[in-house]
Amino acid sequence: MIQVYWKNAIARIVGPDDGITPQDLQDVEPRIRSAFSAVIEDAPGYTRLPAEKTCRDEVSRLAAKYRPATTDLLVLGIGGSALGNMALHGALNPATYNMMSTAARKGPRLYVLDNVDPTLVGDTLKLLTRRLKTTLVNVISKSGETAETAAQFMIVRDLLRKKLGDDYAAHIVATTDSSKGTLHEIARAEGLQTLAIPDDVGGRFSVLSPVGLFSAAMCGIDIEELLAGAAAMKKRIEVTDWLDNPACVLAAVKYLMFAAKGKSIHVIMPYSNRLYLLADWYRQLWAESLGKAVNRNGDQVSVGPTPVKALGATDQHSQIQLYREGPNDKLVVFLEVAKHPRDIRVPDTFPDRPGLSYLGKTKLSKLLKAEKQATEYALTVSRRPSVTIVLPKITPFSIGEFIYLYEFVTSLMGELLGIDAYNQPAVELGKKATFALMGRKGHDEMKQQMRSHLRADRRFLV
Ligand code: PA5
Repeated sequence: MIQVYWKNAIARIVGPDDGITPQDLQDVEPRIRSAFSAVIEDAPGYTRLPAEKTCRDEVSRLAAKYRPATTDLLVLGIGGSALGNMALHGALNPATYNMMSTAARKGPRLYVLDNVDPTLVGDTLKLLTRRLKTTLVNVISKSGETAETAAQFMIVRDLLRKKLGDDYAAHIVATTDSSKGTLHEIARAEGLQTLAIPDDVGGRFSVLSPVGLFSAAMCGIDIEELLAGAAAMKKRIEVTDWLDNPACVLAAVKYLMFAAKGKSIHVIMPYSNRLYLLADWYRQLWAESLGKAVNRNGDQVSVGPTPVKALGATDQHSQIQLYREGPNDKLVVFLEVAKHPRDIRVPDTFPDRPGLSYLGKTKLSKLLKAEKQATEYALTVSRRPSVTIVLPKITPFSIGEFIYLYEFVTSLMGELLGIDAYNQPAVELGKKATFALMGRKGHDEMKQQMRSHLRADRRFLV
C-alpha cells in the first residue's frame, strides 16, 4: 500500500516557524475530525466510484467490443475530461507506447487532444486520416458544450463523415451526461454509442468513472485493479483514526502549512517520469477545487494553495535553487517509487576516473533514489518542509490508491478552508466570455461588458 512520510514537515526538523509543532497538531485535530465527518456525511459522488459496478461493466463490455478492431483511439476532451486519461496512460503504459508494435502494445495507440491548438489538432488528424477505418473517437464532455471539445468534435465528425460516409457513427463513443446536454442530444439523434458520466461526479473527480476508465481499458490497463486500489484506500481512510489515516495526516500537514506556516505553494515532485502526468492531474484537482473567492458563508476570502509540478531529478537542475534559497513559501510533496517498472545498470566504463567510477555497476533506480534523498536533505537544511508519498510499485492498484487519496484530501482541504471544493465559478466566466467572443447566441450582454477591455490601445504596444 502507498504510504505518507511526513517527518520532514515537523518543527524538530525544519524549525517551529516552518514545521509542524505538537501544539499545531493538537490545535488542528478537532478541525480535522469535523472536516472528516463532513466529507463522510456529504459522501461526494466520486466516493461511490470504487464500488460502482454498472459503470465498470459497461466500460469493460465496450472495450471488449471495440478493442480488437481499433488501431488508434482518439480522445477529445479538456480539463477533467482529459487529464485523468493522460495520467492513467502515462503512469501505467510505457512512454514509448504509441511507437511499439501492435503485438507489443496492449491496445490501440492513444492520442488525447486537450487543446484547440490548430497545429496539434491538424498534425494529429493528418496522421490519423490514413487509418480512420480502424480509428475510434471518444468524445468526452459532461456539459456537452465546452467550446474546445465541441470544436474538435465537429472537425473530427466532419472528417469521419467525409471519409467513411454513413459508417461514421460507428467510430464514435460519446462520454457525457446520461440524460441532458447538447452532446447527449446529438448522440441520441445520430445513434452514437454513449457512456454515462454519473450526475454527482464533477469533471476533475471523474477519472474513475467512464471518463478515465474507457481509454484505460482500451489501452490494456487493468481497471478492476485500479478500482480495487481506490476501494482499498477508501476503506483505509474511512476506518482508521486520524493520526494513522493517510488522508487526514496529509490534509492536516497541507492545511497547517498553508494556513499557519506561510506555504502558499504546494509543489508535487515525482521522482518518476511515469508519474509526471499525474502531477498535471493533481494541479487541476487542487487549483479548481481549492482556489475560491468566497467561503461557504459568502465572505470574501480569495483563498487557495497554488499547485506546482516539478520532476525529479530533472528539476533539481532547474527549480531547486529557487526552492532552497528563494521565498520559503513552498511545501514540496515528493512521490517516490520503491520499485520502478524497469531498471538499468550503469556499466563500469571508467573505473580509473574517480569523477565517474562511483557510478559504475550501480543501478539507475539507486541513483534516482539518492537524488531524491539528497534533495530532501538539502531542503531540510534550508528549513524547507517536505512530505514523501511512497508507491511500492507503479501498478493500477497503487495509482487507484493515489487517486482516491488525493481526491479525499482535496475534499478535506475544502472543508478546512470552509469553501465549496466542487464548483468552479471562475472557470465559468471564461467559458461564457469565449462564447460571447465567438458570437454564440444569448451572450451579447457579455460582449458589451467586454467591449472596453477588448478595445486595442496602441500606446501599450511596443
Ligand atoms: O473539473 C471540471 O469540472 C472542469 O475541468 C471540466 O472537466 C472541464 O471544464 C470540461 O468540462 P466538460 O466535461 O463539461 O466538457
